[in-house]
Amino acid sequence: MVDVVLGLQWGDEGKGKIADFLTSRYDVVARFQGGPNAGHSLEINGMKHVLNTLPSGVFHKGCINLIGNGVVIDPILLRAEIEKTIAAGADIHEGLYISRKAHLILPTHRMWDAASESFKGEKKIGSTLRGISPTYQDKYGRYGLRVGDMQSNNFKERYEMVKQKHLSVIKYYEYDCDLESLEKEFFEAVEYLKQFKQVDSEYFINDLIKQGKKILAEGAQGSMLDVDFGTYPYVTSSNTISGGACVGLGIAPKHINKVYGIFKAYCTRVGSGPFPSELDDDLGQALRDKGNEYGATTGRPRRTGWLDLVALNYAIMLSGVDELIMMKADVLSGLPEVNVATEYTIGGEKTSQLPHTYNNGEITPSYTGYAGWQEDLTQITDYDKLPKTFCDYIDAVEGIIGTRIGIISVGPERSQTILR
Ligand code: GDP
Ligand code: IMO
Ligand code: MG
Repeated sequence: MVDVVLGLQWGDEGKGKIADFLTSRYDVVARFQGGPNAGHSLEINGMKHVLNTLPSGVFHKGCINLIGNGVVIDPILLRAEIEKTIAAGADIHEGLYISRKAHLILPTHRMWDAASESFKGEKKIGSTLRGISPTYQDKYGRYGLRVGDMQSNNFKERYEMVKQKHLSVIKYYEYDCDLESLEKEFFEAVEYLKQFKQVDSEYFINDLIKQGKKILAEGAQGSMLDVDFGTYPYVTSSNTISGGACVGLGIAPKHINKVYGIFKAYCTRVGSGPFPSELDDDLGQALRDKGNEYGATTGRPRRTGWLDLVALNYAIMLSGVDELIMMKADVLSGLPEVNVATEYTIGGEKTSQLPHTYNNGEITPSYTGYAGWQEDLTQITDYDKLPKTFCDYIDAVEGIIGTRIGIISVGPERSQTILR
């Protein structure tokens, strides 16, 4: 049995917090796509942890944490993350398994990412500069080096060949780079990673399924950043929807059981690209401040806006979401009115569908307003104790999207989570 938990907006919905919260119900947590572009925050007994490539089950003793074939791994960053997480008390030597088929992010992938972004100028994607797009380009271009290759005698030779290709691309972008120190760190990190368990993860996970183990597949990024269905080209380079879990882990669709979809009670986006319900004003800034909307990985300020039910409905459809999890409603406390976008007007036509392409300012959302709630929600642990105006809002949102909201998060701590 495999359940999937994923983000339904533009990332940073609170996947790390919820994956950690749900882990007590599972034997295995598996990441299936993305890489160190992700920043998943967990807060446990007042300690804050940010995970990038490691699955969010690492702080549960006895939990198997698998980095699947669909993930891209930067050895330098993964080494630093493992060292930091071991120092925080996690047993990584015991619990971590890494797919031999996961692709490696090389130093020149990072540089290619930076070169491409600087070349694009105004039109840049706003990438996390972690080399994600170049690494997936090499995967699909069939040039990539994978975790399993680290053991082979000709690894350095193959690395050199790929590096030469990358340098010619970087030269095309007229970008200067200094590789030497990064390369040294890369090869040291490759040696370091060899002590952790590498597996043929598709066999490994299917064996676990056969043994009746409960598996939670943890998505990274969000549905609106999906390479096929997001706000292309302002997206990441992987499939972030539930279908991505099958190819990113090597499991058949019939093994997918329940899909949890996570969304914030408002929206955020970091990086460039369309954001129809964006609040580019004082209220947007107030949400950013109160919600501490600054990137967990890059520290960049996140753009903020009203909850967009047109986009949310689309994401629920794409992943077949069974149960919704609403995050950060505590941030909206104190507002006289809370809006949700329920329809778009594009080129004078009303629609409840997302367009295939986006021109800036082309989409005008229509909003429905609900009475706000004034109470602080952060100390409430029981659904029945939540203010009536907030429960009315939950019921209204649920009515529009027709999918059950089963969990409500009212703060970053593991314990600030209410079952409904
Ligand atoms: P992820 O990438 O989806 O795991 O999300 P991030 O960790 O990047 O961003 C979510 C941020 O919101 C983190 O700083 C969390 O600690 C915080 N957070 C999660 N849930 C809640 C919540 O219900 N209320 C508040 N105020 N903060 C939350
Ligand atoms: P988590 O898992 C929010 C965004 C970047 C940029 C675009 C492409 O923490 O939710 P990339 O580096 O992937 O090529 O960047 O995608 N992006 C994220 N935004 N949360 C993330 O991950 C993101 N990962 C990538 O800001 O706009
Ligand atoms: Mg994040």
